[in-house]
Amino acid sequence: MDLCIIGSGYVGLVSGACFAEVGHHVVCVDNDQRKVDALQAGKIPIYEPGLEELVHRNVAAKRLRFTNSIEDGLDHSQVLFIAVPTPPQADGSVDLTYIERVAREIAAVLKPGQYRVVVDKSTVPVKTGEKVADTIKRYNKNAEFDVVSNPEFLREGCAVPDLMNPDRVVIGSASQRATDLMKQVYEPFRAPILVTDVNSAELIKHAANSFLSLKISYINAVAAICEASGADVEMVADGIGMDKRIGRNFLNAGLGYGGSCFPKDVKAFIAISRQLGTPFTLLEEVERINTQQLSRYIDKVRDALWVLKDKKIAVWGLTFKPDTDDVRNSVAIDLVNRLVAEGAQVSAYDPKGAEKAVEWGLIDPAKVKLTATPLEAVVDAEALLLATEWPEFANQDFSQVKEKMHTPLVFDGRNLFNPETMKDLGFTYYAVGRPSH
Ligand code: UGA
Repeated sequence: MDLCIIGSGYVGLVSGACFAEVGHHVVCVDNDQRKVDALQAGKIPIYEPGLEELVHRNVAAKRLRFTNSIEDGLDHSQVLFIAVPTPPQADGSVDLTYIERVAREIAAVLKPGQYRVVVDKSTVPVKTGEKVADTIKRYNKNAEFDVVSNPEFLREGCAVPDLMNPDRVVIGSASQRATDLMKQVYEPFRAPILVTDVNSAELIKHAANSFLSLKISYINAVAAICEASGADVEMVADGIGMDKRIGRNFLNAGLGYGGSCFPKDVKAFIAISRQLGTPFTLLEEVERINTQQLSRYIDKVRDALWVLKDKKIAVWGLTFKPDTDDVRNSVAIDLVNRLVAEGAQVSAYDPKGAEKAVEWGLIDPAKVKLTATPLEAVVDAEALLLATEWPEFANQDFSQVKEKMHTPLVFDGRNLFNPETMKDLGFTYYAVGRPSH
């Protein structure tokens, strides 16, 4: 099929590449000319395992191309996916100006007799589809189109496999013609398809991300109880996770959830529920527990080191999770900046995120020493803080780490290391929700 993706960010670019990979012809549109130029030159603006090869292969096969013109994309495609940002506003509600602008731009170039399915893939509040349809109609009385909601559930760091093998595809549609075309788009993925009305599909996305955040906050609250009682949260998570109704996924205690989705989507769902007159106060508690998690961790570091001012502290990890270079809303970045604010001398290492952390002004390189290796970061450190569970951190030579540190004190914020091994190596080891040694 001929498809157009408007917005070449995370969701748009990965979706475009994966649609091309299964044989569709895809035009990716972006209004940022520099991004389009870079993509046309084969440069991928984000780090995502497998994405670069996928883009290159499909561009070479002439199934994938990039342009800055919506009209070009629309003329050559039956289905138009909107994948533009929906950032949060100061009050937590969603800023829909990019979606509205794209709706107007589509209206401006839709020609009579040119039936198109307009698919919203961005995460949007319930009832946005109705607004998109109204807007297109308002600016183009003759437009022939249907609006569909098709939320995306890919995770950063494994976006390509997530998109190629989805647990489910949700199609929110009120038109049989549009539903049939959408089923054709997804047919090669051989995934279960759930067809709903548009409002339900939109709600599924916010409800899913909020539920996953709730699972994380739940286990983090249990971790606090484990710490107070001497129990081990990993065993508790295994024990409850073996119940198929609960499941073990997303029950990893740590420093809390970050990234550009969960914090924003929980806030948005709270705002949406209030606007609808049915406040979802449980989610306010989910947020509170999440914020508290980092403070509890820093308290532990402070308890051990007493005063943080002038203490040399090593931090491993800056990205909001492993296998990505994304440092937006990263708890690891908050941690580093809070240590710096207390006067600590922080050395930090991250396999992929350091450059963007500086480029985006999230970390001040004059205040934080960014090192080229994990070992360099721990030289003379009085404590090592693990903030992101990159696999390479688990494979370090810990006898060397210990030798280089001033004091062998480890605060494992993601329960990555084996407590027994750390103890045998002579480290004083603190984990989250597990007995310390
Ligand atoms: C999340 C969802 O998992 C995707 O399904 C969704 O499509 C995406 O948001 C989105 O809305 O675009 P993502 O933000 O990429 O994906 O990352 P996750 O793997 O879900 O992790 C989010 C945060 O939760 C990370 O900071 C991670 O460290 C934390 N987390 C995750 C935990 O603290 N414990 C866990 O058990 C799992």
